[in-house]
Formats: sequence, C-alpha cells, structure tokens
Amino acid sequence: MRIDILTLFPEMFQSVLGSAIFKRASDRKLVKIVVHNIRDYTHDKHRTVDDYPFGGGAGMVLKPEPIFEAVEAAKAGAYPGEEDGDLPVILLTPQGRLFSQRIAQELSGKSRLILICGHYEGVDERIREHLATDEISLGDYVLSGGELAAMVVIDAVVRLVPGVLGSAASPVDDSHAAGLLEYPQYTRPPVFRGWAVPEVLLSGNHALIAGWRREQALIRTLERRPELLAKTNLTPAEERFIENYKNSSCKR
Ligand code: ADE
Repeated sequence: MRIDILTLFPEMFQSVLGSAIFKRASDRKLVKIVVHNIRDYTHDKHRTVDDYPFGGGAGMVLKPEPIFEAVEAAKAGAYPGEEDGDLPVILLTPQGRLFSQRIAQELSGKSRLILICGHYEGVDERIREHLATDEISLGDYVLSGGELAAMVVIDAVVRLVPGVLGSAASPVDDSHAAGLLEYPQYTRPPVFRGWAVPEVLLSGNHALIAGWRREQALIRTLERRPELLAKTNLTPAEERFIENYKNSSCKR
C-alpha cells in the first residue's frame, strides 16, 4: 500500500512515521508513506497557499491550484494499470463521514490512498467537488487542521494491513473489530495488591477462556456502548445471555 499525505506541516508527521508500527510496515515493504508539502506546488514568489474568501467573511481559504497539482503529482506515481477511479482521494474535514473501524478496514484493502489535510477556515469548494472522492471526519469537534486526523486514520489503517502487526490474530480481537468492545486483559502477577486475576484465565482451558472472553465483551459493550450491540450479529445463545444479564442486573 502507498499513502500520499498532502499537508502544509510535513514536519508534524515525522515523529508518528518514526514510530514502531510505521517503521515495521515500511521495513517489511508493506506500506510506503510519502508526505508532500502543499507549498512545494505553488508557483509565486511568496508560495501562496491561501486567499481571502469571495463574498467576504473571516479567515482564509486554501486555494485549489496547489492542492490539485499536488494530487496530480502523487497520482503520477501510481502503479501501472491502476485506474484513477480506484484511488481514493480523502479530504480530512469535520464535514466528512464519521471515521470508524469499518472505514479503517475498508481503506486497509486499498493499494493506494491520498489524504488531503485541510487548514485555515476551509478549502475551496472545487477541491471537494472535483478532486476529493471521499471526506472523513474524526468526530464532531474542530481541529486546527487535518494533520492529526490524517495521523489517526493512517495509524488505524496501517495496523490492519496483513503482516504489519506481530501477531496476525491481534487485530481480530480489537475493540470494535467485531462490533464489540474488547474483553478485559490481565498479565502477571496473578494477585496484585489483593486483586486477583479471574480464575478462568489461569485454567489453561482454551474453550472456557474463549467463552468467558466473549461474555465479557458482550457485558462490557452492553454497559458502555449499548448502541453497538444493536448493530452486531449475535447468536441466539448470545442474545439469551444478554437478556439474562440485563434481568439479573435489574434485580441487583
Ligand atoms: N479538520 C478539522 N477538524 C477535523 C475533524 N474533526 N475531523 C477531520 N478533519 C478535521
């Protein structure tokens, strides 16, 4: 997978891209990340990337020309035979669709991604209409730019690329991977300040442990994020477990 990031602040990505997960992904030649400075695609003496909004109003708007040129330069590095239509060009913006594990999974299956980090008060609407194929928001709050959002997106996506994580099984159990929050985890010591690890985890019985973990994931999701349960495929036995749990916790 190749990810091109277009930003006015390329230095912001240095520490994140130097972290273990991205190093491993690039050492194993599984992911290549190319950061482009949008300012490098300007042609005037002042390297102008923004301008006043037509019609007036506060703040500055990112100009279309450097961003179109940067995307075109990134696309020029496409793999042979790759169609333009296959190449997601994602604008990070609070107006986009809400990022989720499902979207991370969808993006991790692509061979290429181009991410555009917006800044200032906004971007020229022609970038939305004629360049971006997708818009993603991290949540209903406003960041000062798309950079932090892009870092979150690439982190969530890259760890799902097969071979990037040490253990192939680990992303499967992640919170949200199967629509549920993850079960509680414990490590040594078995008793810490009088608090013991649940006995089942020390039993060595893998079927029992798997059953306990599934139940705990169901309980945790029910208690913290009940709206997620409605969207998850549960077996009839799991549905009954939830009903029994709800009834017993009502009586308590
Ligand atoms: N840029 C500014 N705020 C943002 C948000 N909430 N999500 C994605 N990009 C953004």
